[in-house]
Parts: sequence; C-alpha cells; structure tokens
Amino acid sequence: MLDLRQIKELDAKNYMHTFSRQNICFTHGKGSKLYDTFGNEYIDLGGGIAVNCLGHDDAELTAAICEQAHKLIHSSNLYYNEPQALLCEELLSGTIFERAFLCNSGAEANEGAIKLVRKHFYNKGENRPKIITAKGSFHGRTIATVTATGQEKYNKPFAPLPPGFTHVPYNDFAALKNEADEHTAAIMLEVIQGESGVLPADYDYIVNAYALAKSRGILFVIDEVQTGMGRTGKMFGFEHYGIQPDIITLAKGLGGGVPIGAVLARGDAATAFAPGDHGTTFGGNPLACAAARVVVNRLKNGLLEEVAKKGEYLLGKLSKLKKFNFVRDVRGKGLLLGVNLTEKVQNAEIVGKMAANGVIILTAGNNTLRFAPAYTITKEETDEACNKLMDLFAHTNV
Ligand SMILES: Cc1ncc(COP(=O)(O)O)c(C=O)c1O
Repeated sequence: MLDLRQIKELDAKNYMHTFSRQNICFTHGKGSKLYDTFGNEYIDLGGGIAVNCLGHDDAELTAAICEQAHKLIHSSNLYYNEPQALLCEELLSGTIFERAFLCNSGAEANEGAIKLVRKHFYNKGENRPKIITAKGSFHGRTIATVTATGQEKYNKPFAPLPPGFTHVPYNDFAALKNEADEHTAAIMLEVIQGESGVLPADYDYIVNAYALAKSRGILFVIDEVQTGMGRTGKMFGFEHYGIQPDIITLAKGLGGGVPIGAVLARGDAATAFAPGDHGTTFGGNPLACAAARVVVNRLKNGLLEEVAKKGEYLLGKLSKLKKFNFVRDVRGKGLLLGVNLTEKVQNAEIVGKMAANGVIILTAGNNTLRFAPAYTITKEETDEACNKLMDLFAHTNV
C-alpha cells in the first residue's frame, strides 16, 4: 500500500492541477466514520460534498452494487435495462414528474435540462433564447452549465461562452421580474445556494418567481443536484415552497456515491425530446441504477423523516455557535446547513483544524462552513462532532 507521501507525489506528477486538496487520503469508512492512511478516525459531516447520504459501507447499498456487478455493469442505452426501468418508476412515482432522463453527474443533468428547455420551445416554434439564473448560483463545470453559473470566477477564463444566459441577484424578485420577458425560455434556480454559502431562497421569492414564470409561459427549472434526494428533509427542496416546477435536476445523493444524475420533467417538457436529440453512453447503466434504487427506496421507507429530525437536531447544536462574535449566521434546511463566519475567522482554517481534530466539514462560499452529513448519522456522532466544534470556537481568539 502507498503511504500519503507517495500518493501525493503521484498526484502532483500526474493529475491536472484542478483541486486544492486537504492533506488526507481516506482508505475506508463505516457509517459516518472515515479512516485515513495513518489509521486516524474522523466523523464525516461532509458526506463527500452532500453525496454519501447512506454513509460509508452501507450494507444494503454495497450488497446491491455487488449483486448487480456480478450480473451486468453496463450494456448501453441501445438495449432495455431492468434496474433503469425500475428506478425510473420508483423515482417518479408519488412525484409530480412524468418522465426521467438519466445521466452521470449534476453538470450533465443541468446540461440535459438546458437542452430540454431549448427543445421545448423549438418544438413550439417560439423564439425564446434566454435562460435566467441567479447570481451566486452553481450549476456545474461544462461550458453551458458554467455559463449558467452566476459566478464570474468559474466562467471568465473560458470565454467565449455560449449566448442566452442572464444572471439576476438571488432573492430579488423585482430584478427577476424585470428580466423575464417574452424571449425568456426558463428561470433556473436553486432553492438553497449550496456552493455559495448555504443560502436558502426566501419563500416569497420562489413562490413569486414561479407565478411569474407560469404567467409568462416560462419553464421553471429547479437545480436539485444538492438539495434533492431528501437532503433538505423533503424528497426535493422545492416542496418546501408548494410549487410545481416543470423540470428538476438531480445527482449527488441519488446513487449514494455511485455517479448518477437525472432530469425529471412534467407536462409538455417531459415529451420535448425525440430519439436522437439527447443521449449518453454510461447514463443510467444497471450498476448506477441498482445503487440509486436502494437510495430511493430507503428514503421512501422512513429515511426521509430521519433527515428532517436529524436536521433539526444538528441545527439546534450549530445554533449554539451563534454566541461567538465571529459567527454571523446559522442557516439551511434538513441536513444541508451552513455556519457563516465574519471576516475575523477563515472557514478553510476552521475546516483544517477540525480535520486535525477528527471531524470532516466542508467549506462553502462567503466564508461559510457547510454541513452535509449522511442521513444515517447517529446522535452520538453529531454530539461528538459538535462538541469538538464548540471547543475549537471557544479556543479561537479573535
Ligand atoms: C446545485 C448544483 N448543481 C450542479 C452541480 C454540479 O454537479 P457535478 O459536480 O456532479 O457535475 C453542483 C455541484 O456541486 C451543485 O451543487
């Protein structure tokens, strides 16, 4: 087995320099515990960036993956596929959506949604080139989704960017109303901007934006890549707002760590694609679908309620940090929570110190600590991790 130094040397030599990695290499995990090359144990409050919703080495998920791997990992979308057929039935049933398209990641799901929006209006013969997204949003790293992403730092170096995207300030309905015209095809929003600092959309903002879209024939798209699959305590984050989006996108938690994304659509949008319009080699392969079926079925059989309860509990714990003068805000929903810090303290520094103390936390934009643990995390693990955080904050002199 390689040690951390050897792994780092290979990484430095061979991997494109796209990530600023922490000085840790995990070897395995169990539930919400992670172990590194030195045998150190960590409590995982990051969930692999809101992905590992069932934790590590979940017995049912691992068994389903192994069983499917023995049968068939991949066959391509040229043929029918039982796990895919069952997953789509289970994923759509009980929702407002009628059809799904399966892919491999969040960016690819959003790319698919953008194409679906365009094809919808192409079919109708309407000239609607514009897609409105929010400033501070994050929709992925492909050239279209990085353009949809309302943050220059992600897209400026990649010009020329495709036309047709405009960005408006988040939670500012007047600005959105001003921008949404007869040339607008879609409004695409996150109900919580995860990457930008776990910023929830105001209830009125989403409700009004939805009503505006409906009144102007604009498709309403919610990027649920981070907020979907139970993360906020409901199956999809938009359910907190009582709206019925035309299209949503999913990824992250959907496969419990196995890469899979999805576009779900209703109404005319659900049937806008015809054979040949869109595709994928890997998307929805039997292995990924077998994994996602476990996640969907667990959520429908009690796990979703757990997220809401555990989210309340973690929020209660984190809210106690408000007593420190360098904590500006504690926010989020379910098990997607953020602690926003003042400029007196750097989030990356706290994340590093917590890792050294055996707790994995994520950063997010605007100097925020982001918490996205597994839905299976125990009370004891939450308590221990929060006690360590409280301790660190108490010893942080600013
Ligand atoms: C809201 C949202 N959309 C899209 C993406 C992109 O997903 P992926 O990294 O799987 O392409 C992310 C990733 O963080 C996200 O949070």
